[in-house]
Amino acid sequence: MTQQQDSAELMPWLEHAMHEFYQHGLVVIADAIPAELCQALLAEVSASNSLQPAGVGRQNQLQLNHDIRRDHTLWLDGSTKAQQQYLYRLDLLQQQVNRRCFLGLTHYECHYARYQQGDFYQKHLDAFKGRSNRVLTTVCYLNSVQQGGELVIYDEQDQWLQQVQPTQGTLVMFESERFPHEVKAAGDLRHSIAGWFRKD
Ligand code: OGA
Ligand code: MN
Repeated sequence: MTQQQDSAELMPWLEHAMHEFYQHGLVVIADAIPAELCQALLAEVSASNSLQPAGVGRQNQLQLNHDIRRDHTLWLDGSTKAQQQYLYRLDLLQQQVNRRCFLGLTHYECHYARYQQGDFYQKHLDAFKGRSNRVLTTVCYLNSVQQGGELVIYDEQDQWLQQVQPTQGTLVMFESERFPHEVKAAGDLRHSIAGWFRKD
């Protein structure tokens, strides 16, 4: 099968999502990743005891980080079947974005994130103009959160734009330099994969 056929089969939402993304620089795609794959990834991160307190900038300021974000993270290394299936989809997505939006993305990096009850991530940008190679942010939710844990996205004037309730299989993608965003305190365990398409 060609990658073009793979894209159409594995990501039937692609056409519509690309159109939305092209217009707004932001897209929220429900049921982007199949439930079985989300469950496999969720099982993996749930069973792992290798997650570490997330860093902000320099790694030696853990106390300060704790005021800004409280999630724990673990980078994906492509070592399992589930990770490979996820990374393959994101690779196809990268190719489509490059083809249509001419962003020249060169690779993708991503980590699991676990927010326990009460964990949050204060409003931030994932990239600063001219200071980062992160071009696009992606977040895929591995479980549905009934209470709290919303992703709140703001526009370039810092006005409330959109709120996303984490739902299994939903994929969010937006321009990293453009949209400040925050994660509200989670009411329940919240597992996701946050990733960045980069231009290096
Ligand atoms: C991040 C982030 C959003 C989310 O990890 O940088 O903003 O919804 N995550 O998990
Ligand atoms: Mn972020």
